[in-house]
Amino acid sequence: MAINNDSERIVSTTEQNEDTRIEYSLRPKTLSEYIGQTNVKENLKVYIEAAKQRGEPLDHVLFYGPPGLGKTTLAGIIANEMSVNIRITSGPAIEKPGDLAALLTNLSQNDILFVDEIHRLSRSVEEILYPAMEDYALDIIIGKGPSARSIRLDLPKFTLIGATTRAGSLAAPLRDRFGIINRLEIYKPEELATIVERSAGILGIGVDSGGAMEIAMRSRGTPRIANRLLKRVRDFAQVDGGGFITRSAAEDALNRLDIDSLGLDAIDKRMLMTVIDYYGGGPVGVETLAATIGEEAGTVEDVYEPYLMQIGFISRTPRGRVVTPAAYEHFGIPFGGSERTEQQKF
Ligand SMILES: Nc1ncnc2c1ncn2[C@@H]1O[C@H](COP(=O)(O)OP(=O)(O)OP(=O)(O)O)[C@@H](O)[C@H]1O
Ligand SMILES: [Mg+2]
Repeated sequence: MAINNDSERIVSTTEQNEDTRIEYSLRPKTLSEYIGQTNVKENLKVYIEAAKQRGEPLDHVLFYGPPGLGKTTLAGIIANEMSVNIRITSGPAIEKPGDLAALLTNLSQNDILFVDEIHRLSRSVEEILYPAMEDYALDIIIGKGPSARSIRLDLPKFTLIGATTRAGSLAAPLRDRFGIINRLEIYKPEELATIVERSAGILGIGVDSGGAMEIAMRSRGTPRIANRLLKRVRDFAQVDGGGFITRSAAEDALNRLDIDSLGLDAIDKRMLMTVIDYYGGGPVGVETLAATIGEEAGTVEDVYEPYLMQIGFISRTPRGRVVTPAAYEHFGIPFGGSERTEQQKF
């Protein structure tokens, strides 16, 4: 019972090809258009204002949090609000120290260098980054062996914005060099509903507040998923109901897409049911669970589990994963009742 590739799931938090086309047009360009993340927004507003008054670049900024919550969007907003250029790259794209040196020496005063997936920078590249962040300087080694010497090149004062889904994998010395560190949180349904209404406005889709809320509730706290569901629901509403998205139109469409009232899809259900049916609800070790559903343990931990843990359907114990009573209740299964009939099984 191997599970499908996560990148094909409608509720995947990872960016998909068809997202890329619309995400650009849906990205808020200013802080005031950016919905939710109130703390982050309020703080950034102050830092941006202060830096502008002093005519200096903004301090280095780190954004971390799950995919699709708006890290890249915020980097673009900062560049826009500071009226500076932004160069976009990513950890894996910077292969050699020389690649980073080339990027840095091409920046102008106050520019932003945005490094996505910054936890994937190699050690040798990171070492170039430290003096660049701290002293706006590049240390370059010239020559080899005993005659080698190091020269220091001055860089323009710039802002590094790093984004990562895994703050834990970031080297401590790198993390310490960011003056502003922001964790992005999962969005509340009301915030997602506002995002859905805003996106619908831009895309010219008719939706009422009930329809927006229904999409929001099933979007797993993630704007990227909310925007994707909005597009899918629009297709159903167009074919079936004159194109307008009401609550019942949204409910209908999302049920047909097999996304339930909490945003769980068939893969989530299958994973939970595997623990319930085969391991009496757990505890089961993540390796064993992964093998049973034909996946790798890392994929289970990074992709399948986070949302289920967030809504309290799975908990991690020292002895393994346990499915909670809340999950049993959601599926209408008596808690502790592992003796389910064959028909009840998925
Ligand atoms: N606060 C917000 N208000 C409105 N739309 C948002 C907000 N945050 C994110 N979005 C929308 O969600 C989409 C995904 O956001 P973004 O690409 O910034 O996420 P990310 O955190 O960089 O994800 P990844 O970790 O995959 O790089 C964007 O196209 C944007 O339209
Ligand atoms: Mg991004």
